Amino acid sequence: MSILKVARMGHPVLRAKARTVDKLEVKQPAVQEFIDSLIDTMFEYSGVGLAAPQVHESLRIFVAMLDADGQGEGDATVFINPEITVVGDLKVEGWEGCLSIPDVRGRVPRAQHIRISALDRTAKRFELELKDFPARVVQHESDHLDGVLFFDRMKSLESLTYLEEYSRYHARRDKDDDEDDD
Ligand code: NI
Repeated sequence: MSILKVARMGHPVLRAKARTVDKLEVKQPAVQEFIDSLIDTMFEYSGVGLAAPQVHESLRIFVAMLDADGQGEGDATVFINPEITVVGDLKVEGWEGCLSIPDVRGRVPRAQHIRISALDRTAKRFELELKDFPARVVQHESDHLDGVLFFDRMKSLESLTYLEEYSRYHARRDKDDDEDDD
């Protein structure tokens, strides 16, 4: 396990479509070790999610804190080759950040309710139904596998703010929203 270097916006790996990982490959020690490092790196930088392309590996893998209370506590869930299905048509706007776009926040519309199917780290398929914050996190992370950043999803750039100004002017008023980097 190790702490990996996080790619920042502008690095081409963040704009590439990541490749599918096949079932046999998932079980290989190199991939298992990579998953451990991805989790360690997410914790190290207090993220609530981290996708493989963000650490320069163009693979369809991400990790996320689904029970995150905004403080980064809890267990990481591993998603490999995820597929998202939107349930209903309700979209909600909420604050997002990204470890690849440090110290910036913006309001992003996301589906409020989704279903996600993926392989776990033993290459077994599982499905989860998620709403609100965890649904937002996995949509943000899945986007990274397709080279999409949260800026691309914003309706307008008007809400873009630096972290310091976010804390000063927006965090308290919107305290129900998450304040974490994905
Ligand atoms: Ni991100």
